[in-house]
Amino acid sequence: EEKIITLAIESSCDETSVSVLENGRTVLSNVISSQIEQHQKFGGVVPEVASRKHIENINQVIEDALREADISFDGLSHVAVTHGPGLVGALLVGLSAAKAIAYAREIPLNAVNHIEGHIYANFIEHPTLEPPFICLIVSGGHTHLVHMTDYGQYEVLGRTRDDAAGEAFDKIARALGLGYPGGPIIDQLAREGNAQAINFPRAYLEVGSLDFSFSGLKSSVLNYINSEKMKGHEIVLADVAASFQQAVVDVLVEKVIRCALDKGAAQIVLAGGVAANSGLRRDLTKACEEKGINLKYPSLELCTDNAAMIGCVGYYNYIRGLESNLDINAISNLKI
Ligand code: KG4
Ligand code: ZN
Repeated sequence: EEKIITLAIESSCDETSVSVLENGRTVLSNVISSQIEQHQKFGGVVPEVASRKHIENINQVIEDALREADISFDGLSHVAVTHGPGLVGALLVGLSAAKAIAYAREIPLNAVNHIEGHIYANFIEHPTLEPPFICLIVSGGHTHLVHMTDYGQYEVLGRTRDDAAGEAFDKIARALGLGYPGGPIIDQLAREGNAQAINFPRAYLEVGSLDFSFSGLKSSVLNYINSEKMKGHEIVLADVAASFQQAVVDVLVEKVIRCALDKGAAQIVLAGGVAANSGLRRDLTKACEEKGINLKYPSLELCTDNAAMIGCVGYYNYIRGLESNLDINAISNLKI
C-alpha cells in the first residue's frame, strides 16, 4: 500500500508551523515556531511584525520539519497550506513557500481553510473518529458551531455576532494588565478565584438562537473594573477571572448541548485555542455525561495553531482528488 506523505504549512497568525504527516493522521513532525515574545510588548499580534517574522523563519522551520520526519523533498506526495482566514500578509508567506515547493517538485498543492484545520486536529488526536458530529470551534478569531456531516461537508448552525471567545479572553486580560495571550493566563488565575463572586451577563440571544455574542460581557467586565477602581475598592483579580470565564463557559456549554440534542448527535467535538480552557472542558464533560453524549477534544498542542491539523485537511482533500491552482490567493475573511 502506497503511503501518502503530506508537507503542511501554517502561517495565518503568529505561529510559523510546518508538519509532515503520513496518510493524513500520523504526525511525523509538527514544528511550531511561536512569535508570542515579539508581540507581547504590544499586547497583541502586530500584523507587520508577524509577516516579517514568518519570512525570517519559514525556510528554517520547513527544514526542521523535514529533518525531524526523516523525509526529503523527493518523498513528498503533495503540499497543504492555510490560505485563509487570517492576516493576509502572514498567510502570503506560507502560501508562497507552499506554491514554490509544489511548482519546483511538480506535486499537487492543496489550499486549506484554517477553521477546518481546527476541526481536523481531532482526527489526528483520535485515530478512529469519523463524522458526523457537532463541533464547537472557539479560537482567537472564530466562534462557530458546526454540524460536520462528512469530510468537507459543513452545516454552520451558529457563529459569533461580534467578538470571538478567545478575543474576549485576550481583551479582558489586557484590561486587567495580565499580559498576552489572555486565555491561558485567565484560565490559570480562575482556578484560585470564586466563579460566583460577580454575576456577569450571559448572552443567550433570541430563543432558539445558536449564535454567540461576547461584546456585552466584555463591556460589563470593563465597567465593573472601572467602577470598583472609582470606589477605591481593591479588585480581586482571581474572582474577576473566574466569574468572567464562567459566564463564557455557561453560554458555550448551553448552546453546544442544545445543538447536539436538536440534531440528535451522539458526538461533540471541541476545537480551537479556547478548547484548551480547563473550565470549558470540565463543565462540558459533565454536561455531556448527563446527556449521554460522547465528547472529544484535542491535546493542548493541537488545540492552538499548528500545521499538522492543516495537513490532515489537505490529505482528505487530496485523496478526494481535489487540487488547488498555483494562482490561488490568500483570503483574509475566508468562510467555512
Ligand atoms: O486557535 P488559536 O491558536 O488561534 C486562532 O486561530 O485564533 O487560538 C488562540 C486563542 C487566543 O485568544 C488565546 O487566548 C485562546 O485561544 N486560548 C485560551 C486558552 N488557551 C488559548 N482561551 C481560554 N483558555 C485557555 N486555556
Ligand atoms: Zn487558529
